[in-house]
Amino acid sequence: MKSEVAHVLPIDANARSGRPTPRSRGKSVALVLIALLLFGVTFIDFRSVERLWWLGPSSAAREEAFRAGCAQPEPLLPSKNPDLDKAFEHITSSAFRNATIRRLSAAVQVKTESFDDLGAIGEDPRWDVFYNFHDFLKKTFPRIHEQLQVEKVNTHGLLYTWKGSDESLKPTLLMAHQDTVPVPPETISSWTYPPWSGAYDGKYIWGRGASDCKNQLIATLETLELLLEANFKPRRTILLSFGFDEECSGKQGASHLAAFIQERYGKDGIAVIVDEGSGFEQAWGTLFAKPGTAEKGYTDVHITVRAPGGHSSVPSDHTSIGILSELITKIESEQYPTRLVDANPYYTQLQCGAAYSPDFPEKLRELLGRRRSRGACRARPDRLALEAAKQGPAIKYLMQTSQAVDVISGGIKVNALPERATAVVNHRINVGETSQVVKDRLTALAGEVARAHNLTLHAFDGKESPSSIVLASSSHELQVAPVTPADGDAFAVLAGTTRALYGSDVVVTPGIMTGNTDTRYYWDLTRHIFRFGPGFDPEDGPGLGKIHTVDERVSVLNHVNAVRWFTLFVRNMDEADL
Ligand SMILES: *[C@@H]1O[C@H](CO)[C@@H](O)[C@H](O)[C@H]1NC(C)=O
Ligand SMILES: *[C@@H]1O[C@H](CO)[C@@H](O)[C@H](O)[C@H]1NC(C)=O
Ligand SMILES: [Zn+2]
Repeated sequence: MKSEVAHVLPIDANARSGRPTPRSRGKSVALVLIALLLFGVTFIDFRSVERLWWLGPSSAAREEAFRAGCAQPEPLLPSKNPDLDKAFEHITSSAFRNATIRRLSAAVQVKTESFDDLGAIGEDPRWDVFYNFHDFLKKTFPRIHEQLQVEKVNTHGLLYTWKGSDESLKPTLLMAHQDTVPVPPETISSWTYPPWSGAYDGKYIWGRGASDCKNQLIATLETLELLLEANFKPRRTILLSFGFDEECSGKQGASHLAAFIQERYGKDGIAVIVDEGSGFEQAWGTLFAKPGTAEKGYTDVHITVRAPGGHSSVPSDHTSIGILSELITKIESEQYPTRLVDANPYYTQLQCGAAYSPDFPEKLRELLGRRRSRGACRARPDRLALEAAKQGPAIKYLMQTSQAVDVISGGIKVNALPERATAVVNHRINVGETSQVVKDRLTALAGEVARAHNLTLHAFDGKESPSSIVLASSSHELQVAPVTPADGDAFAVLAGTTRALYGSDVVVTPGIMTGNTDTRYYWDLTRHIFRFGPGFDPEDGPGLGKIHTVDERVSVLNHVNAVRWFTLFVRNMDEADL
């Protein structure tokens, strides 16, 4: 909205923002042109004129504007309960370090794989591993299990409630998942330490789940156990909620837990949620903490081409496989636009970079300044996004809907014409777009192919017929998550905690997740959802700890720092009025 107004009415927009009026701008452009001619410049590059024109506001004002776009809350330490500071110091002791190594290692040793083809709970014995995991937790965190309310939701979901004294305060909710992705048997021999060993080599704990995300689960439990031991009396209720099938959709775990929590606390009944997610990133000479405040959407589109069968000695010119191939070629011949809407957290990160990073690219700074003063223009290519995308595909896809043809099948016999060929295209939808954008585009492309081959098109209508192209979306469809405000009080507590723990050189910027977490079921509970792995090991540097692959591991310092972070965060939330 804002962007279109700025574009349609540039005169108004300029007058309001205190920039030169069109007439004075006209004058200064004329002066610049005369000056260029006087100095014997024989060609005028349009872009350089634009640059000179743009230099209007001083660079100090520009810095100011970038800083305004990347507010950095002051480091925040809890102050109300100094007795608890001893408990906080204990976390860095060698005794605690040794104890939490044992506990996290033991957690990794309990196999809790989840599989895409799991049957019903109670019928498929592969779910029963979670009983073992619960036994382990009960034995390992005795105070929590004696003093807090522990509820099992849909058999294996865990909800811990530490009731606060002030019922008017909405709870703090910390999440993690108990399950891990499976270890493919053929990869076991490639691991440095066996995947279920929980081996500790003096620096890392190794094994499946060590960093996705038994570390986060154990860190939140360590935090509550420590605070119980230190006699903490929360004002604000603290909840821990652990799903058990995050790695295969969360339908049994998170979906039931979220409904249960909403039943009890109501819509928007939670103050803040922290779940697993992104962590720290080094960019442009700055260390960023990047709590995920947005998630891209998700949709798989199944394409089926049906064509007459028959003997392959008398074929039609194009079989269903050929026609499907033609459609796939069309799909891949063009990509979705690279576009950065204001709500996209990467826009904030760019402003953070421009405000605080020594090595922020000049070209990006310039485009960003122009974007800030003019607003985004929908009609044109988004030059800021295109420039930023040059940093690589991992950055580009923060600002672009992705498409990937991942599965294909068709044909059963070499002398029979294939009556059916199918493909599945995976999409991660850009912030500012919806799955409808994807459906409209595929409908148009499939329509062209269908017409060329005299086939009927069934575009997302749930029907099928012989000689047709059928488009259908899977049940996994997910819209882009609501974006968590990055200027809210909850963000300030989270960012303040992070800067208190790691130093104020760390710039906290909202981040965008290209994958999804269990929070996809929690949207109605609060606007303040952060997908954040708060542990950081300066020696280890930012990294994903090899999640979902061979040699998954976590540095012990990273893990201990996560416990410190959660301990400060829970206390900060307890003292905050929000
Ligand atoms: C922790 O473990 C290390 C080596 O494993 C040992 O040297 C140290 O004494 C232990 N610390 C405590 C307090 O037990
Ligand atoms: C197209 O298909 C319809 C029925 O499926 C058929 O009646 C018609 O003759 C076909 N047209 C051509 C040009 O093949
Ligand atoms: Zn995970």
